Amino acid sequence: MRPLLQPRVALNALPPLSLYIHIPWCVRKCPYCDFNSHELRSELPERDYIAALIADLDMALPSIWGRTVYTVFFGGGTPSVFRPESIAQIIAAVRARIRLLPDAEITLEANPGTVDAARFAGFREAGINRLSIGIQSFDARHLRALGRIHDDRGAREAVEAARQSFENFNLDLMYGLPGQSLDEALSDIDTALSYAPTHISAYHLTIEPNTLFHRVPPALPDDDACAEMQEAIEARLAAAGFDNYETSAFARPGRRCQHNLNYWLFGDYLGIGAGAHGKLSFSDRVLRQARCKHPRQYLDAAGTAASLQDDHEVAVADLPFEFMMNALRLTEGFPLAMFEERTGLSTNLILRALDRAERDGLIERDHLSVRPSVRGRRFLNELLQRFLPDAPRS
Ligand SMILES: C[S@@+](CC[C@H](N)C(=O)[O-])C[C@H]1O[C@@H](n2cnc3c(N)ncnc32)[C@H](O)[C@@H]1O
Ligand code: SF4
Repeated sequence: MRPLLQPRVALNALPPLSLYIHIPWCVRKCPYCDFNSHELRSELPERDYIAALIADLDMALPSIWGRTVYTVFFGGGTPSVFRPESIAQIIAAVRARIRLLPDAEITLEANPGTVDAARFAGFREAGINRLSIGIQSFDARHLRALGRIHDDRGAREAVEAARQSFENFNLDLMYGLPGQSLDEALSDIDTALSYAPTHISAYHLTIEPNTLFHRVPPALPDDDACAEMQEAIEARLAAAGFDNYETSAFARPGRRCQHNLNYWLFGDYLGIGAGAHGKLSFSDRVLRQARCKHPRQYLDAAGTAASLQDDHEVAVADLPFEFMMNALRLTEGFPLAMFEERTGLSTNLILRALDRAERDGLIERDHLSVRPSVRGRRFLNELLQRFLPDAPRS
C-alpha cells in the first residue's frame, strides 16, 4: 500500500559540491563519440568562451552562496585545446568567486594529439593537479579504426610528456574495439601499466545513437568476447594493485577520482559551459540544470536565463532511482544513511525494494550499508528498475 501522505524532501545538510567546466571543441569528431563536442572548423573563440564561462559562473553564484567547492573537472570535448594561460585564467576566476579547497582535486582532460611537454607543464602551473588522457588504445590499427587524431607513437609520447609534470594521472582506454582480440586488449592494459598511472578508466566501446558508428557500424567482437575481455582486464588490473571501485574505474590506493566519486555518491555539482549538466540541492528540493548545447548559442546566451535549456526540480518519486543509478555503480555500494542524507527522503521508502533485490541476489547488505552483488553489477539495469517510481512494491 502506498503512503497516504506524499513524502517530502527535507535535507539536514547539503552534500559536497563539485564544479564541472565543459569545453565543447575537438580537433576532429571521433566516429564513436556522443559527447557534446564540436569539430573546430575556424579559429577557437577562446577569449569569448572564457568571458562566457565567467558570466555563467556569476549567474550561478546565488544558487551556491557560502558553499565550498571540493573538486573541479575540465571535461569535453577536448579541454587541452585551450592554452594553459586560459585554463589559469578560468581557475583564477573560480577562486576569486567561490571558496575552493586549497588542495582541491582539479582535473583536465587531454587528447594526445593536442599536447606536448611544455603544454603539460603549463597546465600544471595553471593549477591543474590531475590529468586524464584519452588514449583509447596504444595500437596503431585500432587508433585508425577509431578515427583518432594521434597514432600509437603520439599516444606514448603524450603519456611520457605528461609524466614529467603530473604524478597523478588517468589513462582512458576502450576495449571491444573493431577487430580487437583478447590479447590485444590486454596488451593495451600492460602498456598503460608500464607508465605507472595512478588511475585507469577502461570503457567498453558502446555504439551510441547520433554517431557515425551507429550509421555505419564496424564489425565488433561479440558479447561473449567482450565479457571475456572485461574479466581479463579486471584480473590484470587487480594483480597490478588497482582497485576497481566503479564499473570502469580502477585506482591505485588513495587515488580514486574524487570528482567522479562525488557524482556517484549523489553529491552536488554546478556545471558551467556549453551543454554542461548540474545538480544542486536545497533544504527542500533537488534541482537539475543543463546549459544550451551548441557553442554558438551558449556564447550568445551565457550568463542569462536563456542559456538554461533545462532547470527543473527532480520529482520526489524519481529521487530513489536517481540516487541508486549512481550509488549502485560503486563496487562498495553506499552507507544506508547516505540515502537519507543525500535525497532528504526516509529510508523506509526503499526498504521493500531493497528486500526484494536482496532476496533475488542482486544486492548484499547489513544494517549499515548496501552494495551490489556480483550478479547485481552484471545485471545493473534489472537491479535499478526496482527503484523506478512505478516498480512493483512487494
Ligand atoms: C571527453 S573524452 C576524453 C578526452 C578527449 N576528448 C579524448 O578523447 O582524448 C572521454 C572518454 O570517453 C570515452 N568514450 C567516448 N565515447 C565512448 C563510447 N562510445 N564508448 C565508450 N567510451 C567512450 C573515451 O575513452 C574518452 O576518452
Ligand atoms: S572522444 Fe574525445 S576527442 Fe573524440 S570527439 Fe569525443 S570528446 Fe572529442
